[in-house]
Order: sequence, then C-alpha cells, then structure tokens
Amino acid sequence: MTRLTVNNQPIRYALAPDTPLAHALRDASNLTGTKIGCSNGECGACTVDIDGRAVRSCTVTLAMVEGSFVTTIEGLARDRDHPVQQAFLAANVSQCGFCIPGIVMSAAALIGRERDPGDDAIRRAVDHHCRCGIQPRLVDAVRRAAALARGDERIAPVARPGIDAEEAAAAVPALVAPAKAD
Ligand code: FES
Repeated sequence: MTRLTVNNQPIRYALAPDTPLAHALRDASNLTGTKIGCSNGECGACTVDIDGRAVRSCTVTLAMVEGSFVTTIEGLARDRDHPVQQAFLAANVSQCGFCIPGIVMSAAALIGRERDPGDDAIRRAVDHHCRCGIQPRLVDAVRRAAALARGDERIAPVARPGIDAEEAAAAVPALVAPAKAD
C-alpha cells in the first residue's frame, strides 16, 4: 500500500510499488488528464507536480513518491482559471491538445518558483515534445501567465470551452438514454 496525497485527497494505492505514478493516476484514480506518450521520460505528456516540482510521472514509481503531494491537471485550479490556463486560452496555444496538460503543469511549476522567467528559462522548463508547432506562442503565453500571476496584467474573461450536459445528452440520445423495453 502506497500513501500519497493527490489533488489534496489522501489516497492509498493498493498497487505494486514499482507501478509508474502515471499509471496509478490514470488507471486507479481515473485522472486521465495525465497523458502517456513515450513512457520513457522524453515527451513530457505525463508531467504532474510533485511537492512543487514538475515531474514526468512515467519515470517515477509509487515507491519513489510515497508520502508526496501530487497535483495533476485536474487539481491545478478549481475553475480552469490558473494563470497558465488563462494565458493559454487567450492565446489559443492548444492545437491537438494531447500534450497540453503536461505543458501546463510544467509552466505552472515554473511560474510558481520564478516570478519573471526569461525566454530561455521558459524553453528549458517547458521542454516538451509537441508536433503541432505551438512553441512560438507557447513561450509568449508562459511569459504572459507569469505577468498574470504577478498581477502585472489582466485578461478579459474568455468563454471557457466545455460541454453542456443537456446539449450533449440531446445530441447523442442513444448513448445516454436508457434502452426502452419492448
Ligand atoms: Fe512520460 Fe513521455 S509519457 S515523458
């Protein structure tokens, strides 16, 4: 049994101690915002915050992080309004979106420890693989997120993407409505 605190919830994982944290988060906690790309620490898709540091969660086992405080993309902010999320949304940083949760977690850890990171520091900290070509606007957005966090800048509220539950149910009734008995 491995004890962790995940998104402020104490959790005991009844999994083998050598289970990669990424798998425990996705498969046992259903925190599927943590993505798995390469599984060997290169792409960054699985990045989460562990005790204030951005860590590629495919590279650490449950045993290695026993007792740690883990934050995933789901626990970063109550209403998807972390400065990094606001800045990314305002700049339309996301393209296919697969690697974005990990990138957001790295950027959030960076601006959590550095109030005004320069472009080189941003590129080093957010060194993720993204085939969509978002890098130029990514650096700008992280710089802007830091300004938001410092209170030097404000962003007008942007409509947040999401799915209205009733509209979704109306659009795909066969998937959500119980089958009628004949
Ligand atoms: Fe962990 Fe790629 S899946 S770094």
